[in-house]
Parts: sequence; structure tokens; C-alpha cells
Amino acid sequence: MKKILTGLQPTGTITLGNYIGAIKQMVKNQNEYDSYLFIADMHAITVKQDPIVLHENIKNLLAIYLACDIDPQKNTIFIQSENEYHTNISWMLECNTSYGELTRMTQFKDKSRKNEKFTAGLLTYPVLMAADILTYDVDYVPVGIDQKQHVELARDIAINFNKTYGNTFKIPEPLITETGTKIMDLINPTKKMSKSSENQNGVIRILDSEEEIRSKIMRATTDSDNQIKFDIENKPGISNLINIYSALAEISIKDTEQKFSNYSYAEFKKAVADIVVEKLMNIQEKYNKIINSKELDDILDNGIKVAKKEAKEKYELMKEKMGLGR
Ligand code: AMP
Ligand code: TRP
Repeated sequence: MKKILTGLQPTGTITLGNYIGAIKQMVKNQNEYDSYLFIADMHAITVKQDPIVLHENIKNLLAIYLACDIDPQKNTIFIQSENEYHTNISWMLECNTSYGELTRMTQFKDKSRKNEKFTAGLLTYPVLMAADILTYDVDYVPVGIDQKQHVELARDIAINFNKTYGNTFKIPEPLITETGTKIMDLINPTKKMSKSSENQNGVIRILDSEEEIRSKIMRATTDSDNQIKFDIENKPGISNLINIYSALAEISIKDTEQKFSNYSYAEFKKAVADIVVEKLMNIQEKYNKIINSKELDDILDNGIKVAKKEAKEKYELMKEKMGLGR
């Protein structure tokens, strides 16, 4: 059976972008693939975190996964920091990755530009991500387009390692949906919808109230020509709303355009708000039911057992190939 794996960082409540870009794809594929889904808390600490808040967010993210219909029977679900092989493997990969390659990563360039006291972890972040992926010999990695470059780096690292030490890793591929791969900020639709955005009005979070969702969508930036047409260049705001609708209704961009061709922007926004509210209220209902359940710990206990066993094997194989240990 082919394998898929992805992780999300427990840094604040996840957004509609995370849901569409990553989680929804895992849900869609969980019946056909051997699925691994983890909480990337080690990635979260590449930037400053409040330990109390981080701790809370880890548990909340697990409950969100389940509320979004991730089936614990079909997924190996675990917390990254509980599997210490990831960081060991990451170090071994770091020693096989060139510094120059890491400084060329777009996300690193962006984030290091914004904070002059950035950590060394921010630079090596994609190698830890490569370790997360390569440890399990996965076939596909469902991610939003912003993470594509990192998955490609993981491929390069694997190819290079295999060449140097002999066949050790499977070569993974990013899995990116046709629609909705990059959900944009509602206020500034040329920017990605991001958990860390300064203006919260541009960001829909999975646990936002109905009122917040409706108000944010109704106030979303659009243009003045009043045509529901997908054109990212010239109509980024409307295109983003089309993307959101099309992803949630699971119909194509073309069909979405057609369905709303006679609608005004206000009417279209209302339809988008309706479908987002419907999806998120459903998720929230499930979330509230499970957030305090003991089942959460059981799921993590089971997941980490499976993940660690596999990771240990890969770690031992790498040690042997690299001539480490006794
Ligand atoms: P992060 O919030 O960085 O932990 O992202 C977790 C996952 O969500 C990654 O696969 C990202 O590519 C994806 N993602 C984040 N923001 C968006 C967005 N605005 N649109 C689509 N996918 C996204
Ligand atoms: N870096 C990813 C993000 O911020 C999260 C992540 C960590 C990840 N390790 C991964 C995603 C491995 C896919 C596979 O979005």
C-alpha cells in the first residue's frame, strides 16, 4: 500500500488555508493510502513560542484533526517531539545537505528577513522536514503550495544520500490539489492566508464563530467589475473566494464560475460564507465533543508506538550506511 504523510505546526488555531491545503487532502486519501499525520511541534519552536500556549495548541490540534474527519483507525497520528529519531535523523541529513541550498529556500529568506535575530533552527527547518518524510519511505506528501519547495528539497536530499551511501530512502513526491492549494488572505488576497497574519480580518480560523466567518467573508477585498471570474492576476480577491467555494463544495473552478455567473459580488460572498459556515460549524460540533476525551491520549500512544518502531529501523540503517556507532 502506498504511503502518505503530512504534519502541521501547532502554532495557533489552524486556518481555512491549512484545512483546504493539507488536512482535507489527508481525509480524502485516508482510505487508499497508509496515512501518517503528525503534530510538528519541533518545527513550531524554530520561532519563539510561549510554552504554555504551545502545550495547549498541541492537544487542540489533535482534536481538530479528528473533528475534521481524520480517522484514527486509518492514520498513524503522533507528536513529532515524542519520536526523537526524527531529530537524530535530521542531524545525519544536515551533514549531507549544503548550507547554500538551505539559504536559498524561499520561506527561510522571507522569515529571516523579517526577524534579524532568527534562529539556526529556522535555517535547518527543511532538513527536519526531510527527516519527517524520509523516515517513513512515504510516496506522497500532501501540502499547500508554499511547502512544495521543502518537499522538493527532501527529494534532493534523498537522491543525494542514496547516491552517496547506497539505496536508503524512497523518493517522495508533493501532493498538491488542483484547486485551493493556496488560500489567500481575505483582506490582502495577494498574500497567503496565514496563522501569523497581523490583520485577523483576513484570516478564517477553524474555530471562528459563525458571526466572525460571515463578517470576514462579506468584507473580503474584491474588485470593481462585478464578474465572478477566475483570474488570479487581475481578480485575486474573487479568485480566492472561487477557490474556497470550489474546494469546499468539491466542484471545479469552471463549475463554480458557471454556477454563480449571474450573482452579484454580495450574493456570491453570501454563498461562500454559507458553505464555510456549514463546514466549520460541523467541525466545531465534533471538536467540542472530543476536546476533553481520554481517547486523545490513546490515539497518541498507539501512533507513537508504530512511528517509533519504523523510525528506529531507518535510523539504524542510516547509522550503518554512514559508519556510525560501534
Ligand atoms: P503550517 O501552518 O505552516 O503548519 O502549514 C500546514 C499545512 O497547511 C502545510 O501543508 C501548508 O502548505 C498548508 N497551508 C498553510 N497555509 C495555507 C494556505 N493559505 N493555503 C493552502 N494551504 C496552506
Ligand atoms: N513545515 C510544514 C509547514 O509548516 C509542516 C511540516 C513539518 C511538514 N514536517 C512536515 C509537512 C513533513 C509535510 C511533511 O507547513
